[in-house]
Amino acid sequence: MTTTPLFEIEDLHVSVEGREILRGVNLTVCPGEVHALMGRNGSGKSTLANALMGHPKYAVTRGSVRLSGEDILGWKPDERARRGLFLAFQNPIAIPGVGTGNFLRAAVKAVHGGEAINAVQFRKDLTQRMAALQMDPSFATRALNDGFSGGEKKRAEMLQLAMLKPRLAILDEPDSGLDIDAVRIVSEGINSVHQQDPDMGVLLITHYQRILNYVKPDVVHVMAKGRIVESGGSELVLQLESEGYDPILRRLGIEETEEAVTTNGR
Ligand SMILES: Nc1ncnc2c1ncn2[C@@H]1O[C@H](COP(=O)(O)OP(=O)(O)O)[C@@H](O)[C@H]1O
Ligand SMILES: [Mg+2]
Repeated sequence: MTTTPLFEIEDLHVSVEGREILRGVNLTVCPGEVHALMGRNGSGKSTLANALMGHPKYAVTRGSVRLSGEDILGWKPDERARRGLFLAFQNPIAIPGVGTGNFLRAAVKAVHGGEAINAVQFRKDLTQRMAALQMDPSFATRALNDGFSGGEKKRAEMLQLAMLKPRLAILDEPDSGLDIDAVRIVSEGINSVHQQDPDMGVLLITHYQRILNYVKPDVVHVMAKGRIVESGGSELVLQLESEGYDPILRRLGIEETEEAVTTNGR
């Protein structure tokens, strides 16, 4: 018996402002699998995440992307969300004037349909999820990400994941800028959503091995210069932890210099 893949990326090429950033990405996620995508800053990880969600700035010039066998590239971002794709942003933006609770209610309604949620049930679920993420209840009425610290923004992203219950969760560096306790809380958030829906696929993008001590990947990929250059099991994580990216890239004959970390919303 073969399982139909949940998500398939084939020979994906993506350009930003006329410059080719992704140069042939292949990746298949089966139901329930956790894939870690690692790589240096500037290797193209966020470009992949943004392109998969349909960000208009990221032009797909070649290749295909399928969700449960259906080609998603013709779908607008909101349709991708309705069909079960979710992206947690590396650098979430603030939305002044829009309360986090109201935002989530509107998002759940838009994705799952108005009849799918009962107001009382929604509040109960929200309160529970916030407590699990160790978020103060006052966050429900605060404007989304407005004045949130880095760690609070990441928790708010995980809260969206928990409330939206996607089929494929693309998490772009949910651990960046977090101290070890916050990494653990965010990881537990991811794991608990996964336990409730064991068929959900996860594409966990990270620069560091740390979060992978808590969220165990089935497959680990290394991205360099817009391609996945190596895939393996958790032994690859250990190797990267002890050697860094240099030796593995040198062995593959890839010269890559790390880009300065940007803060412009990517
Ligand atoms: N919106 C954008 N505008 C201009 N250049 C971009 C944009 N997004 C990504 N890039 C470029 O694409 C390359 C890969 O960046 P990115 O995907 O953010 O890498 P990573 O997430 O692995 O750090 C970089 O050279 C970056 O400058
Ligand atoms: Mg990035």
